[in-house]
Amino acid sequence: MMNKIIIARNKSELNSGISQFRKNNETISLVPTMGALHDGHLKLVKLAKLKSDRTIVSIYVNPTQFAPGEDFELYPRTESNDINLLTHENVDIIYIPNPRSMYDEDHTTKIVVGGVAEGLETNHRPTFFEGVALIVTKLLNRIQPDYAIFGEKDYQQLATIRRLVDDLDIPVKVIGAEIARDNHGLALSSRNKYLNPNGLEIARKLNKIMISCANSMSKGTNVDEATQTAKAQLLKSGFSSVDYIEVRSPNSLTILEGGVLSSPARLLVAAHCQDVRLIDNYPIS
Ligand code: PAF
Repeated sequence: MMNKIIIARNKSELNSGISQFRKNNETISLVPTMGALHDGHLKLVKLAKLKSDRTIVSIYVNPTQFAPGEDFELYPRTESNDINLLTHENVDIIYIPNPRSMYDEDHTTKIVVGGVAEGLETNHRPTFFEGVALIVTKLLNRIQPDYAIFGEKDYQQLATIRRLVDDLDIPVKVIGAEIARDNHGLALSSRNKYLNPNGLEIARKLNKIMISCANSMSKGTNVDEATQTAKAQLLKSGFSSVDYIEVRSPNSLTILEGGVLSSPARLLVAAHCQDVRLIDNYPIS
């Protein structure tokens, strides 16, 4: 049977839904999103529904995680389609806060996560994780879910949120969901829709090059040699630049020395194709 979906646009609409669930002793999962939903998000929603009695999906394009000159204004906004998709998934609340209600005009608090949030993305988007940490903390405080679900595509983001939640004693269990890919292995992303057919063809090579790089390191190829080869292959395949292709430890994202790997690790990559910045990652066993 379909639930009646609550579309909450302010705190009181949100709270009246949540208090009903809590009265019934029901558990709640939160799936935070910036909208422009695709099958990857819907996988997170399905996981949320398995974990808890009630599922809340937030849709909010968070300005504090975009630097000046990034695509905040142009970020795809597809609200009615998002609502249709979530209705089909039978979620309980879609939280679409009014943009002006999220931050006070004179807000000043910053949350800076060290360690896992350093390097990789931060070398290219220096204030990104501050913005993510702030909005995720605010959403967790407003909703107080039992579970919060994030995709592994944004692997450093997931590690950063785990660190934040542990360090600030936020009472929520963070769940990571496997990367959703198209039939060619391209990680699903809201920004993929900016690629034209030629760009899509190039983008679909990223995962193949990444997987072959990871496999060659598993078989004993030196990290520096394997990542340099992969970088050259990406550029040759049509990527305009590679922000990074690096190997880190899987949880703390500690930099691993450039020799031969002796324990499991994670390969992380960010590269540009037709003005679209693609990120992806893969386990090295
Ligand atoms: O991954 C995203 O879509 C965003 O960074 C998040 C976690 C919803 C915060 O705005």
